[in-house]
Amino acid sequence: MTEPQLLIMADAAAQAAAGAAWLAERILAATRRRETCFVALAGGRTPRPIYELLAAPPLAGQLPWERIRFCFGDERCVPPDDPASNFRMAREALGTPARLRRIEAERPDREAAAAAYDASLPAALDVVVLGLGADGHTASLFPGSAALRETRRGYVATRAPVAPVDRITITPPRLAAAGEILVVASGAEKAAAAERALRGNLDVDVCPAQLARRGTWLLDAAAAARRVERGDARVSRR
Ligand code: 6PG
Repeated sequence: MTEPQLLIMADAAAQAAAGAAWLAERILAATRRRETCFVALAGGRTPRPIYELLAAPPLAGQLPWERIRFCFGDERCVPPDDPASNFRMAREALGTPARLRRIEAERPDREAAAAAYDASLPAALDVVVLGLGADGHTASLFPGSAALRETRRGYVATRAPVAPVDRITITPPRLAAAGEILVVASGAEKAAAAERALRGNLDVDVCPAQLARRGTWLLDAAAAARRVERGDARVSRR
């Protein structure tokens, strides 16, 4: 497994700016290689400022929006206008220019919804944005989840230990097939999980975020504290 790229930013504003710039650069590179770029978004709180900056000047004017398809790494099984919906968060943050391909996770047959979503996407997503839970989960891949043992399907229905319990999530094979991965995490409560994901003995059943170890990890100083204290990394002053 290749070494992770670590970007440690001094605060939330610097983290959002660095994340938006990273995403814009990867999207432009992907659209130089192919007609359409597929970017899977993470839900949760941390990535929202990144999406908002991506959809605002100056970056918004630099992106070929009509050639970007935003999809999702996971979704909660709630209606698309529910406050817990990752689609709703992304639509609010990115605004109308974004072509959002939502997961129809509110469908009664969740496995059918997951399979249909998987089939609607190219085999290799260009970019996947992931968050990190304090328990080491990413997307809706939680420790001990049967979804971690999926070897064939790219999206599956699963259950989370926190509400909303019913979810649809990207699986390890689809993460492995992705071009670039960006993991964003902030706050001291994520420091232990970030350290385990980046350096711990490899056991994705215990720390699913290790599936993204090869990615670029964009942390604020608090989430990277274990590494900064050890002198293993320094905080960017950008
Ligand atoms: C979700 C996310 C999930 C999230 C982490 C971190 O649907 O909840 O995909 O994996 O990224 O729980 O969430 P915060 O960024 O809110 O801490």
